[in-house]
Amino acid sequence: MTTTMESLIGLVNRIQRACTVLGDYGGADDSVSALPTLWESLPSVAVVGGQSSGKSSVLESIVGRDFLPRGSGIVTRRPLVLQLHKTEDDGQGEYAEFLHIPRRKYSDFAMVRKEIQDETDKITGRTKQISPIPIHLSIYSPNVVNLTLIDLPGLTKVAIEGQPDSIVQDIENMVRSYVEKPNCIILAISPANQDIATSDAIKLAREVDPTGERTFAVLTKLDLMDKGTNAVDVLEGRAYRLQHPWVGVVNRSQADINRNVDMIAARRREREYFASSPDYGHLASKMGSEYLAKLLSKHLEAVIRARIPNITSLINKTIDELESEMDHLGRPIALDAGARLYTILELCRAFDRIFKEHLD
Ligand code: GDP
Ligand code: NA
Ligand code: MG
Repeated sequence: MTTTMESLIGLVNRIQRACTVLGDYGGADDSVSALPTLWESLPSVAVVGGQSSGKSSVLESIVGRDFLPRGSGIVTRRPLVLQLHKTEDDGQGEYAEFLHIPRRKYSDFAMVRKEIQDETDKITGRTKQISPIPIHLSIYSPNVVNLTLIDLPGLTKVAIEGQPDSIVQDIENMVRSYVEKPNCIILAISPANQDIATSDAIKLAREVDPTGERTFAVLTKLDLMDKGTNAVDVLEGRAYRLQHPWVGVVNRSQADINRNVDMIAARRREREYFASSPDYGHLASKMGSEYLAKLLSKHLEAVIRARIPNITSLINKTIDELESEMDHLGRPIALDAGARLYTILELCRAFDRIFKEHLD
């Protein structure tokens, strides 16, 4: 990836963040009507699948860190918008930041997990309810690729004790509201130890993206298939054909997690699994979490490139609206609101500049 494109995805990340901050700032978004449209025109990747299909595991392997809440039942009860920012190897190491706790840097990822849990409970009140209000988390690391990923509640077929019957439909509606947007890249997770014909992820992806141009299908739990069976038909695209190739992964098992097998060891083992597999050895270079992360980042780059004219015109519309909003607000504006408007305006200008350079 060229440096320009890398910084471009980084800028998209920052604009998405700024749009959110501004959107949260009650009222400001009403007067800048292009903002929600701008946010929706910027591509991101939504992780979709049935409960326990391996969504959180896939996300963690893409990041290479262990930071998501775990457990049975519906653990993810609010969307988690996760922005990965690739940093220079500048000795700062890896750290995370929540949008709702500005300026606090987390280098202990166990604390990140705890904060996601607490912040989920804060809104859903420790019930088994879900909420569409996203949690925004950024991870800065020299070891990630620039990418925005959204973790969503798992699709389910039945409500469990203590949950309203409507929860099944509520979850589906929430997931659908993300994946039906034309700019959403769908990361559809299916477990290999279940019949692909029953996959919730594939079913929904097929509905909202019938041509399969924005669906990336991931097959988890290859190591848990019945002896004597394999997923070659699926992975080679014969069982269910998509425009993009299927990627098989092997995540940590529950026993691995209980034994605290770290992500580095897990990734190494995953590589070895494919390299030495009699069934998948011929596909090894196109399997695994690291390959998946690169594939997604490359795709995101291509999508942004293709949408440059469209995004630039939206950016310019937003700049115009922001400028007149700033004029209109004049002196009495709260420092915070002014600073935020100004930040996004600067970001938009930077974005516009980089696009122009890129087109030259
Ligand atoms: P989610 O509910 O979709 O987020 O699923 P999780 O990522 O939490 O995974 C559910 C369970 O399946 C956990 O106990 C994981 O350890 C386990 N798991 C996920 N992927 C794999 C895999 O590829 N192989 C094995 N053996 N276990 C997996
Ligand atoms: Na789940
Ligand atoms: Mg999960």
